[in-house]
Amino acid sequence: MADPTKTTSRATENRSTTPSSDAFKDYIGSNWADRVDVVPPAREQAAYAAARRQRLSALYPNATIVIPAGSPKVRSNDTDYPFRAHSGFAHLTGWGSDTVPGSVLVLLPTAQGHDATLYFREAAGRDSDEFYANSDIGEFWTGPRPGLASVAADLGLATASIHELAGVLESLATDSVLLREVDAELTSTIDTRRIATSRADENGDFAFVANGNPFEERDIELARDLSELRLVKDSYEIHEMRLAVDATKLGFDDVVADLPAIIAHPRGERLVEGTFNRRARAEGNTVGYDTIAASGPHACILHWVRNDGPVVPGDLILLDAGIELESYYTADITRTLPVSGTFTEVQRRVYEAVLEAADAAFAIVRPGIRFREIHQAAMAVIAKKTAEWGLLPVTAEESTKPENQFHRRYMVHGTSHHLGIDVHDCAQARRDLYLDGVLEAGMVFTIEPGLYFQPDDLSVPEEFRGIGVRIEDDILVTESGAENLSIGTPRTADDVEAWLARG
Ligand code: GLY
Ligand code: MN
Repeated sequence: MADPTKTTSRATENRSTTPSSDAFKDYIGSNWADRVDVVPPAREQAAYAAARRQRLSALYPNATIVIPAGSPKVRSNDTDYPFRAHSGFAHLTGWGSDTVPGSVLVLLPTAQGHDATLYFREAAGRDSDEFYANSDIGEFWTGPRPGLASVAADLGLATASIHELAGVLESLATDSVLLREVDAELTSTIDTRRIATSRADENGDFAFVANGNPFEERDIELARDLSELRLVKDSYEIHEMRLAVDATKLGFDDVVADLPAIIAHPRGERLVEGTFNRRARAEGNTVGYDTIAASGPHACILHWVRNDGPVVPGDLILLDAGIELESYYTADITRTLPVSGTFTEVQRRVYEAVLEAADAAFAIVRPGIRFREIHQAAMAVIAKKTAEWGLLPVTAEESTKPENQFHRRYMVHGTSHHLGIDVHDCAQARRDLYLDGVLEAGMVFTIEPGLYFQPDDLSVPEEFRGIGVRIEDDILVTESGAENLSIGTPRTADDVEAWLARG
């Protein structure tokens, strides 16, 4: 956590100076209009975030719970990556891209549950030099910050100045849990405090400290619980997912419309990325993950994000991209397009095999099945097709046995992952609830089978080599089955060709 008492910035003094005379301070500190902390109505997500906090409260009835948002990560010297609050913090507060960096949510136990308070660094007064002299957080540098009253109303949460957090931590009970992965400095402060308190409680018996940090295990359980709280989406989240998918469709449309310019440029993949990301910034917060614009054999590199190759007619281009909204909810969609506008016979054969795998997986989705069955359904088709094409040393049935799995040479990744605030959402959930978990209405995940024939793979006929196809859709489990949220982005071979023809 950035030291809340700090007013100076990291800017190096060897390249700029801030006037520091009393005369200057008086001058710049005066003659400003009164600031009004506009109090907005509660945002729609506030009530949902309160319900999520209640579910967390029930898991830790007597414990103090500390959830930091985190601080910007250094990119180099005194420049940072764009700030993104921790997903667990965003989920529990409803604050997304407008989160004030360094904020901390604290839930204090009460007889009825917990009282939640959000600590953040509110706007500095004109009597401080922060507003003009601190390039890390001063409003002349990074823009205005909201006041305590406006955030309290906006999020429906009690708020307090970050300067008051130290006092709360001073008296932190040993029965406390911390989301420890977010903020190393805060974690160290809290560990020191908890260890000191428990030493005092145990009348000077320090033996347990030698056996490691006694608080760490429970903290890790908290991170797991926060991940698991997000496995089933509430109606606000489902609505956001629909909007993220709709915005992402526009980004794909932009790329299709820009194809002539993309083909004409020697680094066409970069133009694909730029076109999609432009839409992401226009419609949402940013991209939900680095855009994969993989043309020709680059499509066989699963996370190809260098995106510096040409986009050549006759090849396929695989675009795996998603728009993240200001609330942080993101889509994750992949389409594989023939650059010339029409698939060759072999490209279409591979494409339709992948589509069949995706459809077979989608067909079984409903509450009550296990998550891993989705992958098995897709793999049955991938094994069948690769066996039909004579690529496997055994039959499809033999290949699907755990000890064989030869078809996985051509698709080494999984078929599905949960999707939400994170592109790989709920990643710390237990296997029992994730891979081996049973589907419930409200879960959202991808179905994204693929086939990738590396350019130097001698196990496949030459005509297959360098072809990579993935089709990825975002799926909502409903009470009676499933809905493909991304069905509006063309996905059959014929529909893709018609889309490209429209341009
Ligand atoms: N769309 C990127 C991934 O799922 O890893
Ligand atoms: Mn994905």
